[in-house]
Amino acid sequence: MPQNQARWDSALPSQKILFVSGKGGVGKSLIAAGIARQQAHAGRRVLLVEIGDNSYYRDFFGLERLDYQPQATELGFDLAMWSGETSLKDYVLYYLKIERVFRLFFENKVMRALINVAPGLNEISILGKITSGVRKIGPPLPYDLVVVDCYATGHALALFQAPRGILEAIGIGPMGTQSREIESVLKDPKVCGYAVVTLLEEMPVAETLEFRAELRRILGVEPAVIANKVMPVPVERAELETLTAADPGGLGEFAKYLSAIEDRQKQYLGKLSREFEAVGQVPLVFSNDPKELVAATGEALRQV
Ligand SMILES: Nc1ncnc2c1ncn2[C@@H]1O[C@H](COP(=O)(O)OP(=O)(O)O)[C@@H](O)[C@H]1O
Ligand SMILES: [Mg+2]
Repeated sequence: MPQNQARWDSALPSQKILFVSGKGGVGKSLIAAGIARQQAHAGRRVLLVEIGDNSYYRDFFGLERLDYQPQATELGFDLAMWSGETSLKDYVLYYLKIERVFRLFFENKVMRALINVAPGLNEISILGKITSGVRKIGPPLPYDLVVVDCYATGHALALFQAPRGILEAIGIGPMGTQSREIESVLKDPKVCGYAVVTLLEEMPVAETLEFRAELRRILGVEPAVIANKVMPVPVERAELETLTAADPGGLGEFAKYLSAIEDRQKQYLGKLSREFEAVGQVPLVFSNDPKELVAATGEALRQV
């Protein structure tokens, strides 16, 4: 497989926040955990954050609970889950410090419904929390790196667009100020990194290129790309051809199948290599054990 000179993560050591996105099901959550583990092993204090309302990691790591407060894991990094509601609660309690206002927001059905439909409020609350350590506001976040297991591409772009949307709607007051600050953090490549995970297949690669174009347009930043579930084909092409000739109906079919996989992977890896400076690669790991999967993923990314 072609090895590019630059590493996919060359900017990572200086960055404090890494968003991991990609098409649904490509391996965002596993790769985000792999990166968190790898960076923790490199000696950084790492927090892996899941955003939204449904947890993937709770079942994946067999945890009794996973909530807003970071908890230590056996893998060397801390883990937390931040939803729009918990992030907003945190914000309201920290800034307003008035229990009455807090109750007005969260114990009132109408207010709760409004919070859920207010455009961009969930998004800006989550981004506010993610960037709070860097902006040095709110409760301290004592981490060198926050890895965000982000939404799939379309929803992730809506997340990154939220500060601009709010600024255009209400440019003044504390909401405006915070949105402006959050947007400038997202745009700063020394602070925020973006990784897009893909499979070496047509649709995920097309979505990866679209995502990059939109990210450039919205934030003016460049994502790194990671090809996941790359199948190693440990047999030379000539041997596959010999096998196909020797046993056309039997093992030959399997050899053809392997050749087809290799061709497809080469085609899309070539396409990505022409488009991106560096392409990270993670092999398809043959294991069902979460810790093994995370370790193998992190290890693969360290080597690429
Ligand atoms: N490199 C890999 N090797 C083996 N299994 C993988 C690999 N990457 C992802 N998976 C598995 O594929 C499934 C989808 O991955 P997941 O991280 O949940 O994707 P996403 O977060 O993008 O929806 C999970 O069961 C995950 O464990
Ligand atoms: Mg996921």
